[in-house]
Amino acid sequence: MVIETENITKYYGQKLGCKDISISVRKGEIFGFLGPNGAGKSTFIKIMTGLLFATSGTATILGKPLNDISVRKRIGFLPENFKYGEWMTGEDLLSFHASLYKLDKKNVKDRMKEVLSLVKLTGHEKYKLGTYSKGMQQRLGLASALLPDPDLLFLDEPTSALDPIGRKEVRDIMTDLKSRGKTILLNSHLLSEVEMVCDSVVIINKGTVVVQGDMQELLKGEEVLHIHAEDLSNEVIEMLKKIDSKMVSENGRISLKINSREDVHNAASIIINGRGKLYGLKTQGTNLESKFISLIEGGDGK
Ligand SMILES: Nc1ncnc2c1ncn2[C@@H]1O[C@H](COP(=O)(O)OP(=O)(O)OP(=O)(O)O)[C@@H](O)[C@H]1O
Ligand SMILES: [Mg+2]
Repeated sequence: MVIETENITKYYGQKLGCKDISISVRKGEIFGFLGPNGAGKSTFIKIMTGLLFATSGTATILGKPLNDISVRKRIGFLPENFKYGEWMTGEDLLSFHASLYKLDKKNVKDRMKEVLSLVKLTGHEKYKLGTYSKGMQQRLGLASALLPDPDLLFLDEPTSALDPIGRKEVRDIMTDLKSRGKTILLNSHLLSEVEMVCDSVVIINKGTVVVQGDMQELLKGEEVLHIHAEDLSNEVIEMLKKIDSKMVSENGRISLKINSREDVHNAASIIINGRGKLYGLKTQGTNLESKFISLIEGGDGK
């Protein structure tokens, strides 16, 4: 496990930040850390990154206890709402972070070029931060977090200021990091994005964990597959009924309940292999947003 926590709890004086958070994050996964405003997400992330001390509880990060600072070099962190001096240039900020990470001076210039190009800011590094748009500042924050090529990356609202293309670019950066075995803990309110990239999720509310697990598992259950297809033989219809015996079929429009995304693939294969004409496939059902709303508003007493 890259992160393993046990009952992490934080009180700000009398005020609860987070309580009994126990999570396990596997190597190479994108882990969604979700919850409504004030749930305790940033509190938890700050504890994990060493910016706050937990009131109680224990944790290991990259196999080491929280107070072991040797792992900090392998961790990247994009904080929420960060603000740096407007007089600094993008290059100043990256050099500053490179010095904090004690990166090898020989490679710093090349690495800065690489991360600037990754976040699409090449050419802007000589400008002062005061001239950066919100989205450019967020991109630069991500570039700083990526500087040490970290094994573990904490992203607290990485795309809140980005336009749709910027969001897609950040998703691509995340999936690329994942393909290189890096681990990401992502906190975002943009649940459609979380649904697209995360392997596992935990949802917290009022400081405590409401649900955690595999994303596909969490969303499993009530999903419906709508199919538009013609020239379907009785044999094909019978095979489709094996996916859902209560399937509805009318004028080339079929709706069936599915249990996993594999069923989408299976349904399409059955139709095509049975020489049917497939014109459309669409899934509809419990998405992360409706699951989130039902869990938070569902009145579980927390
Ligand atoms: N420095 C602080 N002093 C006192 N209370 C704090 C402090 N920081 C956070 N809190 C409280 O801890 C709780 C959790 O806050 P936190 O910032 O962790 O929430 P969050 O889940 O990150 O919310 P958001 O989605 O709005 O960023 C809130 O009730 C907040 O008021
Ligand atoms: Mg927060």
